[in-house]
Amino acid sequence: MKKIIIAIDGFSSTGKSTVAKLLAKSLNYIYVDTGAMYRAVTYFALENDLIGDGFFKEEALIDRLEDISINFKFNKEAGFAEVYLNGNNIEADIRTLRVSKFVSPVATLSEVRRKLVEQQQLMGRGKGIVMDGRDIGTVVFPDAELKIFMTASAETRAKRRYKELIDRGHKLSYEDVLENVTTRDHIDSTREDSPLVKAEDAIEIDNSDLTIEAQLETIIGMAQKIIEN
Ligand code: DC
Repeated sequence: MKKIIIAIDGFSSTGKSTVAKLLAKSLNYIYVDTGAMYRAVTYFALENDLIGDGFFKEEALIDRLEDISINFKFNKEAGFAEVYLNGNNIEADIRTLRVSKFVSPVATLSEVRRKLVEQQQLMGRGKGIVMDGRDIGTVVFPDAELKIFMTASAETRAKRRYKELIDRGHKLSYEDVLENVTTRDHIDSTREDSPLVKAEDAIEIDNSDLTIEAQLETIIGMAQKIIEN
């Protein structure tokens, strides 16, 4: 059967990864969370005091990029691939508000983007992949057979994210999460290199009032049509 590339882009916390994971599972495709890769570089920068409140040693981070090796390993129990930095599982460490706070500035660096985009393109060589991020349909795979652009209001996204973090035992306020979501939207969509924009041929889905099942059904329907053609 024909294998395709499905690119899912959109703003922070639109639930892209939840839908992308289920989509990959149902099509028996590989799922790649590119946000996790930018988060891994950010975690490295934080751990090595290259970024923090009021400072960002951009040149030093660029110099250390060759010391950063990111890969994914499938966790059977979790049902998805977890991210590893230099051999260590950092899946839980990258899902914190601390990493979310610094990831957008890190993702503005062209040197970081070049390194990660190259790795993402290699991962998609054999097709049969669902990849989510900000620039997948525009930069990483401009020829992807199916491109989805997910949107939802900032409040809807912040509420979802807040619930997710509270459920995981984090202590924070809804206002902090909303502030992080809107700040990231701004940095991600106004940066010079590969800003978050909808690809011309992407299909926009506003999922503010859609269940995960409804989103999944719509996207699977579109994918099946392309695969069967
Ligand atoms: O999807 P996420 O929220 O985990 O992504 C974290 C950050 O990484 C996001 O604010 C911007 C950046 N990012 C990016 O610039 N390009 C991608 N393809 C994926 C994420």
